[in-house]
Amino acid sequence: MSGAGIVDQIKERVDIVDLISSYLKLQKSGINYKARCPFHNEKSASFFVSPERQIWHCFGCSAGGDAFGFVKQIEGIEFPEALRILAARAGVKLERQSPEYQEFQSAKTKLYEICELAMRFFEKQLRESAIGKKALAYLYERGLTDESIKEFHLGYAPESWNALHNFLGRNYENQEILNAGLIVKKDGSGASFAEGYGRPQYFDRFRSRIMFPIFDINGQTVGFTGRVFGELAKQEDVGKYVNSPQTPIYDKSHILYGLDKAKLDIRRANKCLVVEGNMDVIMSHQAGARHVVASSGTALTDGHLKIIKRYTENLDLCFDSDSAGAMATDRGVDLALAKGFNVGIITVNELDLKDPADYIKKYGVKWSEYTQKSKPFMDFYFETARKTFDITTALGKKLLAQKLLPFLASMANKIEQSHWVGEIALVLKMKEEILYQELASAKLKEGIQIEHDNQPTVYSQQPKTNLDLTEETLLSLIVKKPELAQKINSEDKRFFSEQFWNLAEKLKSTEKEAPVAQLASSVEPALAMSLEFTYLKSQELWRDFKDTELEEEFQKSIAQIKKRRISMQLASLEYDIKAAEKGGEKEKLIALVNEFSKISKQL
Ligand code: CTP
Ligand code: MN
Repeated sequence: MSGAGIVDQIKERVDIVDLISSYLKLQKSGINYKARCPFHNEKSASFFVSPERQIWHCFGCSAGGDAFGFVKQIEGIEFPEALRILAARAGVKLERQSPEYQEFQSAKTKLYEICELAMRFFEKQLRESAIGKKALAYLYERGLTDESIKEFHLGYAPESWNALHNFLGRNYENQEILNAGLIVKKDGSGASFAEGYGRPQYFDRFRSRIMFPIFDINGQTVGFTGRVFGELAKQEDVGKYVNSPQTPIYDKSHILYGLDKAKLDIRRANKCLVVEGNMDVIMSHQAGARHVVASSGTALTDGHLKIIKRYTENLDLCFDSDSAGAMATDRGVDLALAKGFNVGIITVNELDLKDPADYIKKYGVKWSEYTQKSKPFMDFYFETARKTFDITTALGKKLLAQKLLPFLASMANKIEQSHWVGEIALVLKMKEEILYQELASAKLKEGIQIEHDNQPTVYSQQPKTNLDLTEETLLSLIVKKPELAQKINSEDKRFFSEQFWNLAEKLKSTEKEAPVAQLASSVEPALAMSLEFTYLKSQELWRDFKDTELEEEFQKSIAQIKKRRISMQLASLEYDIKAAEKGGEKEKLIALVNEFSKISKQL
């Protein structure tokens, strides 16, 4: 099946209302549906879905499109991935794949199944086994609610070398369970041969631990992290956490703990908060701050940041208030700046509270408010450095400058940079020039390049339509009441775009509520989508308007379009006038000034 064919086939089978309902709660609004827009922050609903036209559009932020556009934006993915997701949803088979690829896919499917089963096994143990109940009590004691424990599917791995292996072994090969990272092969150095039959060659990786399943962005279980608790936690030779290894389905540098649940909120809040631990993520979600994720079982990487960048350019960090946390913060800030994020810092700075989980246990939902007040990273470092270094000494001054200058050097914005040079010069009682000299040699740590990639985020990725917003509004009025088209004076043609004019001409010749489908099929795709939005606006924006009110709106829009075009003309004339003045072109200048005053009168 060819590319275009398959897209149409999928669109036929996937109902856009069902699709969007699986992400948002839609509310019926006449023949359409509405919701609060997932792509920008808003109080009232201006996000509409049209079952009739199978499109969506937000009147507030102008985002809109078809089923593919929605999946791309909401999941932060490109077309090929959206195609896979929607094909699966539609039950449409994509082109035939090579046998090797199919084998690889089915092997991966097995790993997902195994992890999912293991997750359920652990969950059951948490609720039903005696020690599991103790683990559950520990989780309650940490401040988690049953709801959170269920939402994040926490579990308990029993104190056994083979309980999970036995359970999974009924349906899967050892090699498969091994590949999923759930069992470990005994050292092949002979012990298992020498000691003969009956002894298992494998043992469960996770034993006597509270289990946190790790989900990929689609919410599929791909791995685990297990934490000790109770008596075992007091033993020095027992590590606090055991993690799944890297597997074909678990790529640690690309999986963020909690992202499957946070992604919509990250979009909505237009920011992401990265914390250190699993507990921090769960507690934060529980406290109502749901734009929160953690890197799990590894430090924050470039790969993680690239994924976050699909959703937002604003990144806050809140790491533990210990030296490890401070180092992780430095590293995170460096990496995030290099990726072009606006970076903020949140600190939990109370003596006995070391991380967000502690804060939330003590203060509950106040955390949600607290996360709103991140400090721009430079403010944070400046304040911290002032407190840390004794700037009355030469050494203290040098250390402060050493700490802060690399960040300044990495600032793309010169105004911001000079602001901070000024601040630092002031506290060090030093000439700014000296700092600038130092700045020239200060660079961010080696290997970190500032890549100000111009990739727009979703927010600027508005659909390319050939009509501007006012023209779209005007057209929606004409769709609603085609007679209005007759009232456009043909002498005013120069004020409108060609596309608008052509569409208005076509609409003039139709009767009530123009056949959008017909019109849309006769224009290029971008303009067709603009027409769809126009139609949706005609249905929703003007629903209860009387004829006289429609006409008022119509006249207002026309006036607005004219005014804008005239102002634009004047601005460019002004520029020409200045140039003519400079060049001493008298005659040209007089002509331009005359034209300017003529046009001004039209305003
Ligand atoms: N971590 C790990 N291996 C370790 C220690 C930590 O993988 N040996 C990871 C875990 O994902 C953990 C995170 O790093 O969640 C942060 O570690 P830490 O602050 O020690 O743990 P918390 O999550 O804060 O655990 P708790 O609050 O339960 O002590
Ligand atoms: Mn913690």
